[in-house]
Amino acid sequence: MASLPLPTVPSHSQLSLRRKLIGKPPHISYRVTCNADNVEKTPQQPKLDRRNLLLNISGLYGAANLIPPHAPPASATPISSPDLSTCAQGTNLNTQQPLDVNCCPPFSDKIIDYKLPHAAHLRLRPAAHLATEEYIAKYEKATELMKALPDDDPRSFMQQANVHCAYCNLTYDQTGDPSEKLQIHNCWHFYPWHRWYLYFYERILGKLIDDPTFAIPFWNWDNPDGMAIPAMFVKENSPLNDERRSQTHLPPSPADLLYSSTAKTDPNIIIPTNLTEMYGEMVRNVSNVEDFYGAKYVVGTAPDPGPGTVERGSHTALHVWVGDPRSPAGEDMGNFYSTARDPIFYSLHANVDRLWSVWRGLRGSKPKEFKEADWLNASFVFYDENAQLVRVRVKDTLEDVKMGFSYQKVELPWLDKRPKARVRRSKIASKASGVSNVFPVKLDKVVRVLVERPKTKRSGKEKEEEEELLVIEGIEVDTAKFVRFEVFVNDEDDEPGEVKDRAEYAGGYSQVPHKNSSKVKSKIRLGLTELLEDLDVEDDDKILVSLVPRAGGEDITIGGVKIIYV
Ligand code: C2O
Repeated sequence: MASLPLPTVPSHSQLSLRRKLIGKPPHISYRVTCNADNVEKTPQQPKLDRRNLLLNISGLYGAANLIPPHAPPASATPISSPDLSTCAQGTNLNTQQPLDVNCCPPFSDKIIDYKLPHAAHLRLRPAAHLATEEYIAKYEKATELMKALPDDDPRSFMQQANVHCAYCNLTYDQTGDPSEKLQIHNCWHFYPWHRWYLYFYERILGKLIDDPTFAIPFWNWDNPDGMAIPAMFVKENSPLNDERRSQTHLPPSPADLLYSSTAKTDPNIIIPTNLTEMYGEMVRNVSNVEDFYGAKYVVGTAPDPGPGTVERGSHTALHVWVGDPRSPAGEDMGNFYSTARDPIFYSLHANVDRLWSVWRGLRGSKPKEFKEADWLNASFVFYDENAQLVRVRVKDTLEDVKMGFSYQKVELPWLDKRPKARVRRSKIASKASGVSNVFPVKLDKVVRVLVERPKTKRSGKEKEEEEELLVIEGIEVDTAKFVRFEVFVNDEDDEPGEVKDRAEYAGGYSQVPHKNSSKVKSKIRLGLTELLEDLDVEDDDKILVSLVPRAGGEDITIGGVKIIYV
């Protein structure tokens, strides 16, 4: 049975810190939660006081509208902020017992619609490997203060870490469809949700040290100079350090952005491979908005409909690469429920967030985001730096500067890493042997498929207008396990190896382990237009697709492979 989140008695210094923060303690009530197998919900009745209703109707409230927490969403379909009273404790995926923490946030029945404040100062997020001693001291101080906050303060380090657990380990029902769970990963909310999460984390830290310009650092893992875990995170006795990390991946090892069970160790392979991967995630594979952000996810959609390139690629690899293989579920970084207990999490994600801004900047006149109201109006809730529960929307996340932060400008060393054109590989498809066409198929070995191309010899204009996409669908995985597979086109090798500078590499799929509710069905789309040019096979009416398991293949099933034009 779950343990109760007992309010702890704050120490004197914690109390004075709290007073410094907000003047008086936030009004938070506690409730009993329950384990996921025996969900016994304890709905809290909203206080519909007349004042709130009037404010709501008149709209005269200026910066904030007090809204009852159970108000129906403005539109029926976008994901809307979870009802905190439906939060259920997550499950430890190894033991199937409740997690050792209850990651539900403290309950509050006052939610304010958040308005971006006018940003008087820009918070400039520095590259962690370039940060000054003075900056590092400041960040350490702020983190130490956050760790000293009482456990029941929604701004404490543990509560902040639990925010990730609550939104990512299926502890909330979807508001509007209690038969489906809320999961903000592996779908189009990955970037906006994490942007909000970091936003409040950063503001809480800034408030603790009284610095409205304080900005969190980003781990510049897409640049060879920044690929190792930044030094500030491995200093002994630093509040930024975490014991639970893979001991073989400490500096100076460069992060492996295609990390899998067959680990590479040679930096001369890892670094150029990383750059090929980043080029794929940021340029080659993301002609369409959906391929960068991830698949549509609205009320009624089952979790994990499909991750975007960075999420399923470098981002997932980093989580698992940093996590400690000695821990039962790869804690801290290697599992969604525990990942944000490692301070490096926020810097990993600051770089993901930075790449979002960079990608938008590279788009020129092409669409930079979804125009659908189902995306723009989706909402989430967070506690802000004043311990006030606020409702935020996706549409407010589009410009980092409007949110009051930006990133130190650094090189983009992957930008010109288009793999070299190779000799023509035409007719490889017709010579292929060991080809399978029976789906669903288990990926316990390399699976090779001949795939029909409905259109060949496409003109420059056609290619401009429509991207040719290889769709791998019905990907069924056990969400509790780390899995990874890679996709190659017209590769002559029976078991394609190195990705480095390999034009045949079309991309991959991997996922960070999280609560095992049921098997999920996901899909990915891989851009083919540039790849087919590089292989000089644009006239061929078939391509040979190799699906290569790299981790947990026995736990991956593929439902089908096809080509579409979007
Ligand atoms: Cu929310 Cu990198 O996970």
